[in-house]
This record gives sequence, C-alpha cells and structure tokens, in this order.
Amino acid sequence: MIVRGNYALRRYRKEAVMSNNLFVAPYTPEQRETCAGLFQKVYNMPPFAFAWLDGEKAKSYFWDLESIPNSLSFILMDGSMAVGACMGQKEEHFQNPGYKINEFFIEPEHQHLGLGAYFINELENKLHELGVKTMYLFTQRNMYSFDFYLKNNFIVNDGTVHMAKVIRQEPTVVYTRTFVNSED
Ligand SMILES: CC(C)(COP(=O)(O)OP(=O)(O)OC[C@H]1O[C@@H](n2cnc3c(N)ncnc32)[C@H](O)[C@@H]1OP(=O)(O)O)[C@@H](O)C(=O)NCCC(=O)NCCS
Repeated sequence: MIVRGNYALRRYRKEAVMSNNLFVAPYTPEQRETCAGLFQKVYNMPPFAFAWLDGEKAKSYFWDLESIPNSLSFILMDGSMAVGACMGQKEEHFQNPGYKINEFFIEPEHQHLGLGAYFINELENKLHELGVKTMYLFTQRNMYSFDFYLKNNFIVNDGTVHMAKVIRQEPTVVYTRTFVNSED
C-alpha cells in the first residue's frame, strides 16, 4: 500500500509504474473473476470497508454490468497484470452518443501514481474514436474520488439531482376484505 505523505516513496513508485508497460485493453467476460476480485479488494478496504461485499456478490455484479445492453468496458493493464477497470455502457439514445461509467477503480497499491488520470485520458481517446461526445458518472461530493474527477476535468451538472426512495420494509395492508361465496 502506498504511504500517503511519503513523497520520495510515492515518486519512486510513480516513476517505476509509469515506465512499465501500461495499456488499456477491452474487458471480456473471461476477465470477470479478475476484475471482480480487484473490485472486492478496493471496496473491502477503508474508507469503504464494505463487509457485505464477498466474492460471489462481486462476480454476480460484474455479470450484471457486462450484460447491460451496449456495455463497453475496459481494463487497465500493467504488463500482464490488471490494475484497474472501467465498467460502462455506450448510450446511443441521446442527441449525441454518450458513455456512462458505472464503475471505475484502480487497484489499491497502484493508487495515487497517476494511473487513474492515465486511464481516463486513454478512455477519452478510445471513446472519441467511437463518436462518443460525453462521459458521465454518479459519485458523491464527500468522496475523495470527487476531487479526482474534478482534477480530470469532469464538471458538476448542478441541474441534475439524484433521487432515491426507500422501499417499505413491511408491506402495508391497506384494507382486508372477506370474500363470501354468495351460494353459501
Ligand atoms: C479514485 C481513483 C480511481 C483515482 O485513481 P488514482 O490512480 O489513485 O488517481 P491518480 O493517481 O491519477 O490521481 C490522484 C489524484 O486524485 C485525487 N485523489 C485520488 N484519490 C484520493 C484520495 N484518497 N484522497 C485525496 N485525493 C485523492 C487527488 O487529487 C490525487 O492527487 P495526488 O495523488 O497528487 O494526491 C482511485 O483512487 C480508486 O480506485 N479509488 C477507489 C474506488 C473509487 O473511489 N472509485 C470511484 C467511484 S465513483
């Protein structure tokens, strides 16, 4: 794990990683297990520490993500090792084709080395070739990834509000009725 604040170490790691063979490859279902494993590693750690996220849940989530119509996902490779993934979908139904990012993450020991920025930039080039005009995602203002996206020139759409409604835990019985067979 990178020790934040240890700038000499971070700089050393950054140069070491950036000199390696980084490239972006298309995601295929054969990489589901690897990517789900990375995802689980990222979100089992602080600040998330999702104790409920086990290997099976992660794999079934990735199956869902790759089954979305027009799903278009990518893996960030460092040589033969997957170090990040972007799970998304191309959306044709707007005025201009867009790309919705559903999950974007970098393997914890490779974070803060510039790989996230490199990945976004490579995605942008690939999506541009496919005629995509915008990439977008949901995140939370109080999450550190918010700063990361701002730093990578994502802009906040103030006109959009994400809304949710909690489904009642217990079904509410509005009224009951006894059906009486008129022949009885
Ligand atoms: C967010 C994430 C994709 C960024 O990738 P990365 O490779 O670490 O990012 P980069 O090294 O290119 O850029 C890092 C910069 O982004 C911001 N940033 C990223 N993580 C940060 C953190 N934990 N705390 C503060 N700022 C952070 C900072 O500006 C940082 O600059 P610095 O390294 O000089 O401090 C990666 O940290 C990650 O996978 N996080 C966990 C999963 C996640 O939150 N995904 C997004 C969900 S919407």
